[in-house]
Amino acid sequence: MNNVKIIGVGSYAPERVVTNFELSEIVDTSDEWISSRTGIKERRITEGENTSSLAAKAALGAIKDAKIDPLELDLIILATTSPDSFTPSTACLVQAIIGADNATCFDIGAACSGFIYGLNVATQFIKTGAAKTVLVIGAEVLSKILDWEDRSTCVLFGDGAGAAILKRSETNGILSIFTGSDGKGAEFLECPAVSVKNPFVTKNHEKTEVISMNGKEVFRFAVKAMPTGIEEVLKDSPYTIDDIKYIVPHQANMRIIEHVAKKLNIDSSKFFINLDRYGNTSAATIPIALDEMSKAGLLESGDKIIIIGFGGGLTFGSALIEW
Ligand code: UT7
Repeated sequence: MNNVKIIGVGSYAPERVVTNFELSEIVDTSDEWISSRTGIKERRITEGENTSSLAAKAALGAIKDAKIDPLELDLIILATTSPDSFTPSTACLVQAIIGADNATCFDIGAACSGFIYGLNVATQFIKTGAAKTVLVIGAEVLSKILDWEDRSTCVLFGDGAGAAILKRSETNGILSIFTGSDGKGAEFLECPAVSVKNPFVTKNHEKTEVISMNGKEVFRFAVKAMPTGIEEVLKDSPYTIDDIKYIVPHQANMRIIEHVAKKLNIDSSKFFINLDRYGNTSAATIPIALDEMSKAGLLESGDKIIIIGFGGGLTFGSALIEW
């Protein structure tokens, strides 16, 4: 089996910053409520750019960072809950923008765990020799599927994209990877697609195509799934949590992260946080964080980190990575 290494990362978020104060002019909320319940201060919201555009910009950043030619890519996997269209896949749209003519492209849907699911698929392709150089993207324009009158969801999310280039390598980078799903919890975090409509439909089942969430149930799931994910990737490795320099969690809620830190007795400074500036960008939170960490010089060659996510599906996943 081949080894797999992350050789470049990139990210992009729309320029428009929307603060909690601005949201309090749209819905009945306050900076105090949003900050104290979630840790979010502001998020980026698109003024028109769609998911493929954000994704392509993040991808070009990762390609530059990896110092590769787009023609070297033989696979593009794009994780999103907010694609441009049912077809073509957003991955194909990105392929055309970045000129990755030799790649096979597809989207995957695993909500906020999508980037880790994509990383897992990419890792298996490279390990088996089916691919050599893979672009994995997490990209979202969640603002287009939010109900801007629902204060329980619209304050939580943001738009953005992050990307990573994975390559067959002499040394091992993806040390272990774990994913899981629980479809019984599907109703706790939903965004319906187009309802069934045709001349033969006997009963109207129309649902509005916006995100709805049972926050308490998702919170409950998250504080169980995250410790499981961390333990799963460490258990067959020679490492303990003390060997891990950073945990890069899905950026949904500061209280979830603090809960997990306490439960596992991990110093909360080990968790990288940027949710105060981006909110929850679903599949994009982890690759955006990795890019910020890399650019800030926080990640050195040989560092061990754990990425960990959870979200709609319900889904969860984690990876132990040697940088
Ligand atoms: O990627 C996965 C994404 N999802 C998550 O990670 C969600 C996990 N869950 C959470 O983060 C939290 O459950 C929330 C932040 C969503 C909500 O926090 P909470 O402490 O569970 O609040 P709650 O839903 O119990 O609501 C408490 C109160 C309610 O009012 P009453 O019934 O006590 O009068 C809500 O109506 O807060 C009210 N509320 C708000 N008030 C001001 C709900 N949203 C807002 C708001 N501003 N934006």
